[in-house]
Amino acid sequence: MDRITTCVFDAYGTLFDVNAACRELSQKVGDKWNELSTLWRLRQLEYTWLRNSMKEYIDFWKITSDALDYAMETLNIQNIVLRDELLSLYLKLEAYPEVQSVLEKIKNMGLKTAILSNGNKEMLESAVRNANIKTLLDEILSVDECKVYKPASVVYDLVEKKLGVNKQNVLFFSSNAWDMHAASNYGFKTIWVNRFNNRLEKLPGKPDQIINSLEQIEKILKN
Ligand code: LAC
Repeated sequence: MDRITTCVFDAYGTLFDVNAACRELSQKVGDKWNELSTLWRLRQLEYTWLRNSMKEYIDFWKITSDALDYAMETLNIQNIVLRDELLSLYLKLEAYPEVQSVLEKIKNMGLKTAILSNGNKEMLESAVRNANIKTLLDEILSVDECKVYKPASVVYDLVEKKLGVNKQNVLFFSSNAWDMHAASNYGFKTIWVNRFNNRLEKLPGKPDQIINSLEQIEKILKN
C-alpha cells in the first residue's frame, strides 16, 4: 500500500481475544459462558459510548468490571470468586495466534507499529507483556490520555500527536466495524479485520480492505 509508514492496531478483539477469559473458565461459568462473554463485551462498549455522551469518563478497567457485574447479574450468576478470576484473566487475554509473527513482519518492512485502544495503560501493558509483543510495538496509545472513548476524533488525533505521523500515512486495523468506520471517516486508511463474519455498519467511512485474520496483512502491504 502506497505511502503507509505506520500500522496502528485496535487492541480488544483485534490483537487480543476478548472471549478468552470466559472460555478459559467455561467449566466454572457453565453453559452460559458464551452468552456471558457476549453480553460482557456488548455492555463494555455501550458503557464507553454512553459515558462519552454523558461526559462521565471513568477508565476502561472500571467500565470492564461494571459491564461484567451487569452481565453476571442479568444471567443470574452469583459468584464473587469467579468474577474476580474473570477480571484477572482480562489482564492477560490471549493474543490471536498470528499476532506476534505479523508484527515481526511489519517491523521487518521498516514500518512503525502502535496500539490505539480504549484500554488504560496498565491493562494494555499487561496484555502486551503477556503476549510477548512489547519489543514489536513503537507506541501503546491509550484513550486515558484524553479521557474520552472511541470513536471521538480526539482519540484518533493521538496518533499524529504522539507518533509524529500524518494521518494519510497511517493504516489502521480494527475488528470492530464501528471503530474502522470512524477511523476511515477521520482520514486513516483502514483494514477491517472481520474475524467474526459480521456485516459492515451503516455508518460513515469504509474499509480500504477487508480481511478475516491479520495473516493476510503482508500481501496487502506489499501491493
Ligand atoms: C479497543 C476496543 C474498541 O481496544 O476494543 O479500543
